[in-house]
Amino acid sequence: MICGCSVGAPSSTATNEPPASANLRAEGLLLSRCAVCHSTDLVTQQRLDRGRWEATIDKMAHWGAEVSKEEAVMLADYLSARYHPDVPDQEPAHEPEHAAEPLRVETPAAAGRPPGETAHGEVVYAHNCQACHGSGAIGGVGPKLSGNPILGDEDRFWETVLHGRGAMPAWEAALNAQEIADVRAWLGSLK
Ligand code: HEC
Ligand code: HEC
Repeated sequence: MICGCSVGAPSSTATNEPPASANLRAEGLLLSRCAVCHSTDLVTQQRLDRGRWEATIDKMAHWGAEVSKEEAVMLADYLSARYHPDVPDQEPAHEPEHAAEPLRVETPAAAGRPPGETAHGEVVYAHNCQACHGSGAIGGVGPKLSGNPILGDEDRFWETVLHGRGAMPAWEAALNAQEIADVRAWLGSLK
């Protein structure tokens, strides 16, 4: 190999920064294996050293995260390079800076179902749903949600998201009512 550059040789143990291709894979793993239960914010808010990242990933694997040994190492490389104790705390990076007037979607005043905020819904979607339902909600492992008739059936939407269905995980423990309302508002705003 002429130039190892960012691909190829597993040099990640020698340097602090894993190669870019490994970063991409690690980010994919975070979305597809970790975000099924909680937002990736819960992960990237932590500031842990390598040993504690390994222990956390191990714990998540026991709780049901699907990661192979090799993937666990890749995630530990990625997370310990970025989110170690010397890194300052940061605001969630994806929050739109000047989301003008949040668009409120009217919902019947059903108990525990607040009006949704479209702009925030996009963030919640990106962190929790996009891995399966695709960018722009055009579908993936899960069905297309953009324009999906279920958006017009509020009860069915909430029932499906809260309790899951088939391969669709339940979100009751991971998202609060505001976040679910926000996602619904954002999905409803897609044309
Ligand atoms: C099967 C569900 C599930 C999966 C998959 C999962 N987690 Fe978790 N995770 C949890 C639960 C439950 C908590 C505790 C949440 C709380 O305390 O509010 C948690 C908490 C965390 C925390 C907070 C610190 C702690 O120890 O409580 C981190 C960091 C974390 N998970 C990382 C990950 C990573 C990285 C992955 C992917 C490899 C992952 N999780 C996958 C269920 C899961
Ligand atoms: C792990 C993959 C996965 C994730 C993550 C996921 N979904 Fe799903 N979702 C599915 C699958 C698969 C189905 C189809 C379930 C079935 O009917 O068997 C589905 C179905 C749905 C449906 C019903 C669609 C219909 O046509 O009836 C809604 C609504 C939905 N998901 C919303 C969400 C929302 C909102 C999130 C994020 C909070 C989310 N999903 C995250 C996999 C996922």
